[in-house]
Amino acid sequence: MLTTNFLGLNLDNPVMVAAGPWNRDGASLHESIAAGAGAVVTESIVSDTMLDVGPRIACDENGAQNIRLYSDIQIEGWEREIEIAKADGGVLIGSISAHTPSELAYLASKLEKYGADAIELSVSNPMLESLEVVASHADVIYEMTKAVVAAVKIPVMVKLSQNTTNISKVAKAVKEAGGSGVSAINTVRGILGVDLQTARPVLSTYGGVSGDYIRPMALASVATIAQTVDIPISGIGGISSAKHALEFLMLGASTVQVGTAVMLRGKGVIREILDGMKAWGEENETGSIPSICGRALSNLKSFDEMRYEPFVSTVTGVPCEEHCRRCVDTCMYGAIAKAEKTVHVDRTKCMGCGLCTFICPAGKLSLGL
Ligand SMILES: Cc1cc2nc3c(=O)[nH]c(=O)nc-3n(C[C@H](O)[C@H](O)[C@H](O)COP(=O)(O)O)c2cc1C
Repeated sequence: MLTTNFLGLNLDNPVMVAAGPWNRDGASLHESIAAGAGAVVTESIVSDTMLDVGPRIACDENGAQNIRLYSDIQIEGWEREIEIAKADGGVLIGSISAHTPSELAYLASKLEKYGADAIELSVSNPMLESLEVVASHADVIYEMTKAVVAAVKIPVMVKLSQNTTNISKVAKAVKEAGGSGVSAINTVRGILGVDLQTARPVLSTYGGVSGDYIRPMALASVATIAQTVDIPISGIGGISSAKHALEFLMLGASTVQVGTAVMLRGKGVIREILDGMKAWGEENETGSIPSICGRALSNLKSFDEMRYEPFVSTVTGVPCEEHCRRCVDTCMYGAIAKAEKTVHVDRTKCMGCGLCTFICPAGKLSLGL
């Protein structure tokens, strides 16, 4: 059920390990392939490596903030690393980052020669404002993509940022320049928190936030691209379970990439996601991965298409949890009252906002006309 084709590459499954330090060299990439990933993306390779600052990664229960920069291995060193990574097979995507089209073309052609199966252009970086600006400019992305496409025969995808005013425009520029696909999204510029005792932010500069925090934004970016541009998409952002991966596929991604979950839980998370996807496919008699892709898009309307419907909250026979008053306390219209082991909804007051159906831990409330 899980085999698929992405950018013309045959993959055993659609779950890739994203670019990051967990894929920093041949040995770690080999581990990611052995963990079952359909493909692996190298940490971004640049022409001028520089020393990382530290501390550079912080995390909490919902995700992480990092100010890690790029691969510390020079481009020439990657010949040996790719050989190690692919010693037992696997599909490897070389991630590259640079400020000019010619630099990118140079890095891409080297990686193609060393055995990379595809290229991912990482055109954003929430730490470096200049690259963040690049990610918003469709004309710059067009020139960068075109230069790389002309320099290599392997497929080229471009990793987009959510920090842009019009992600569709950037994705269209990738397509027009001959790019084979896009991936979305990179980390989102942010600050994870502040230590109140020392008055210090958890990391001493702005960084890229990842994990659960960014999944809703990532899902929206993928859906927006899928609804506006006909180009294969690799969905990234806060994926740590089969459910998350399937959500991205249903909103139009053809593959997904996992980063922070691998960093925080180890590479075994890839097998957990794959097993969960297989089990879900069997339970739901789902066909192939391509048949799942985009399944939820027809249920995603633009706001202009939304019509007023006189919904009201309806009480089902499911018993309330003991002492629970959450729907009563959170109803902003004062429409819900508690009674014995149930609740009553005043239909004249209920405005059909739907919040109580999500709040109720017992699943007692639903919306109806
Ligand atoms: C520590 C760290 C380092 C990263 N390094 C890179 C990188 O070198 N190149 C890149 O394109 N993205 C990099 N990313 C971004 C991830 O590939 C991914 O797009 C982002 O973290 C969102 O996915 P996630 O929530 O699954 O981590 C990095 C992320 C983290 C947390």
